[in-house]
Amino acid sequence: MQFSVKSNTSPKSRIQGLVLGCYDDFKLSEMGRQVDSQSAGRLAKLLKRDDFSGKAGQTLILHNLEGTNLDRCIILGLGKRDELDADRLITAATAIANTAKSLPIKKLVISLDDVIVCDRDDTWLATKLTEAFNDAAYQYLAMKGKQTKSEPITLASVELLTEADRSKAVKQGVKLGGALSIGKTATKDLSNAPGNLCTPTYLADQSKALAKQYDSLTTTVLDEKQMQKLGMGAFLSVSKGSDEPGKMIIIQYRGAAASVKPHVLVGKGITFDTGGISLKGGAGMWEMIYDMCGAASVFGTLKTIAEIGPKMNVVGVLACAENMPSARASKPGDIVTTLSGQTVEILNTDAEGRLVLCDALTYIEKFNPATVVDVATLTGAVIVALGSQASAVFSNDDEVARNLIAAGEQTRDRAWQLPIWESYQPQINSAFADMQNIGGKEAGSITAACFLARFAKKYRWAHMDIAGTSFKWAGTKKGATGRPVALLTEYLLQQAGRPA
Ligand code: BES
Ligand code: MN
Ligand code: ZN
Repeated sequence: MQFSVKSNTSPKSRIQGLVLGCYDDFKLSEMGRQVDSQSAGRLAKLLKRDDFSGKAGQTLILHNLEGTNLDRCIILGLGKRDELDADRLITAATAIANTAKSLPIKKLVISLDDVIVCDRDDTWLATKLTEAFNDAAYQYLAMKGKQTKSEPITLASVELLTEADRSKAVKQGVKLGGALSIGKTATKDLSNAPGNLCTPTYLADQSKALAKQYDSLTTTVLDEKQMQKLGMGAFLSVSKGSDEPGKMIIIQYRGAAASVKPHVLVGKGITFDTGGISLKGGAGMWEMIYDMCGAASVFGTLKTIAEIGPKMNVVGVLACAENMPSARASKPGDIVTTLSGQTVEILNTDAEGRLVLCDALTYIEKFNPATVVDVATLTGAVIVALGSQASAVFSNDDEVARNLIAAGEQTRDRAWQLPIWESYQPQINSAFADMQNIGGKEAGSITAACFLARFAKKYRWAHMDIAGTSFKWAGTKKGATGRPVALLTEYLLQQAGRPA
């Protein structure tokens, strides 16, 4: 989707679609008044019909408004004047994006006249509009057969009209929104790819290709032999049951001097989670193609960061393996030695995410990180706790947690903190090893985070459980969401010193 920003003059040539925002007081904006006078008062009259209430997200399409050069004048409800907040703007932006993509038009013009978000600036507004259109237009088509004709979305460009004094901020927002959309699309494409295509090797190849695309990125890949040598016994206990070799993928973004400490992102990259010998039930097991969403969101965030080019250093680590049952697979009761030297009793091979992550968390000590955030579809329990609204945040540093949650509030890619108090730790103590990989039926997401905390003692760290937010499993709306790329990008840019 092509975005452009133009100054606010009433367009002369024929327009396929012009969007005018309208609050529930039906008062016309400056641009609205121009259209109204061209149409000899028809616009104002039609607005007052009962078809349109002005509720946020409501749309009304007026065809061939007489006297105007508009094929379609699309009225977009903005709710109560002065109460257009971040959430209502997103509702309205999503609605217009979905309406527009089903219209047989190539170009849409949106007047930002009167569209003022009470709790956000114009850069944010333009970012969210850009994201909404890209999200609405997203389709995963890579696996459709050659004969399949995809339903074409004809909409190819969006033009934002705004007053001169807002145009700089709007342009900035369009740029950030574009960078986010590129990263989010990459995340969605990797996440939606089926398990027989998206293997650890595939993710490694994609990561190498990414580094070829951007001078600021370099990718290195550890294979199983190298991980064996390093002593990553926990990671390898997961990958050894599969014919697909595990890979630890390191993507480095260099935007500052080598002496500047990097922020490190670690992603869970289980390309399919059968549960292993502790095999999952068959119903809905396909969803476990999404067990690499953490890795995919780290990949997408690095891509967005490379697009933006901030003065900072970022390291992304993708811990990638397939969790399969086989004669070579780990069994319940097996005890393994992690890279940290701590031993783990594997009581359930389906709690595999923490096993691949713990070795990654130890490995990244060598980067001397400023902060570390791991992102993982770690537990089903987090979906029970927070549903699909918020990702869960756990941290050994309240400021890191606060910053992540603030980034989530700002972007509306929201997150909420859960505790990892020391008093939960005994739940994962083991009689035979230093710890066990499950903590009983209480507080499953917390004990998983407590497990990771034992490997993250040397730096400021947070863990995000994205099992509920990174993909949708329902019917036709199924698919990856691209979360939490927006949150992570916002967090990193704030860390790089961009003012809030
Ligand atoms: N990948 C799953 C968690 C998950 C569940 C992600 C649903 C997305 C949607 C994870 O590896 C897992 O199986 N966790 C177990 C942990 C249990 C064995 C302690 C779970 O949540 O049941
Ligand atoms: Mn599992
Ligand atoms: Zn898993």
